[in-house]
Amino acid sequence: MDVVFSAMRPTGRLHLGHMAGALTNWVGLQDGYDCYYSIVDWHALMSDYADPSRLRENSREVLLDWLAVGLDPNKCSIFVQSHVKEHIELHMVLSMIAPLGWLERNPTYKDQILNLQNKDLSTYGFLGYPVLMASDILVYKAGKVPVGEDQSAHLEISRELARRFNNFYGQGREIFPEPETLLTHYPKIPGTDGRKMSKSYGNSLDIADEIPVLDKKIRTMMTDPARERRTDPGEPEKCPVWDLQKFFNDDASQMREIPQGCRSASIGCIDCKKMLIAHVTERMTPIHERRARFVRRDGELSDILAEGAKKARARAGATMSEVFDVLGMLKL
Ligand code: TRP
Repeated sequence: MDVVFSAMRPTGRLHLGHMAGALTNWVGLQDGYDCYYSIVDWHALMSDYADPSRLRENSREVLLDWLAVGLDPNKCSIFVQSHVKEHIELHMVLSMIAPLGWLERNPTYKDQILNLQNKDLSTYGFLGYPVLMASDILVYKAGKVPVGEDQSAHLEISRELARRFNNFYGQGREIFPEPETLLTHYPKIPGTDGRKMSKSYGNSLDIADEIPVLDKKIRTMMTDPARERRTDPGEPEKCPVWDLQKFFNDDASQMREIPQGCRSASIGCIDCKKMLIAHVTERMTPIHERRARFVRRDGELSDILAEGAKKARARAGATMSEVFDVLGMLKL
């Protein structure tokens, strides 16, 4: 079975953008592939080293959100990156063969340094972000990596490092297969202010938000700004609520009536939002129920992570034996 690897940094609760994009995709992959999904705490520390106070809590929240949306520990391996030491060992190896120029020229690196001015990211560790990412993937010899477009440059570095390692040490063998990007389609999920949904904008609808909270956020959510009065006609394509309808509303007749009614002003934004809230409630209630079941069972969460780390270590350990061997390191 083909191996899939993907990961998220534990930066706190996940939102409906994560759910509609990455997580729906990951859940679907569980049945056809040998999937490894990792909560990459080392990566979170690379940018948030100055304040790790929420790391433990954030890692737990991500785990709960993953389980809530249907990642199933019986079908895939769910684990925390720092629990599998092989990631760090391979990071050391790859860091020795990673040319500085590749890392310094990485467009994501330059972007982040510019965008996250409040953090000092000119560190040795942060420069190596894509090297650790390559280690995450290659230590499982993963063939497929589901990620968004924003990770493409990183994935290219992973392939180049695989090739470079094989050239140096493979003696004609392909020790690391080059991982392929499975580009994730992200449906447009805007936040309550119409901008891209993001925790840092404070406009997110979180997976863990209770129904009354989601209800309130949607009721006060921005709509087509040109539709000021109930009697003004609106333009669905300019309305963030319509983008959410496209993801949550599976009632075909409503999906015909809403844009017509909006353009002719025969329905108001409140009516439209009420319909959306009903569909969001229907979709999110079972997810919240699953989340609540896990919240009350801390022991079970530990068991899931222990089991996930065990499965991950088995595969990563085999890769590292091979790596130590071709590197000519003395066996104990
Ligand atoms: N950099 C990724 C992100 O910010 C997270 C990540 C770390 C990852 N290691 C990975 C994604 C390996 C895919 C494969 O979303």
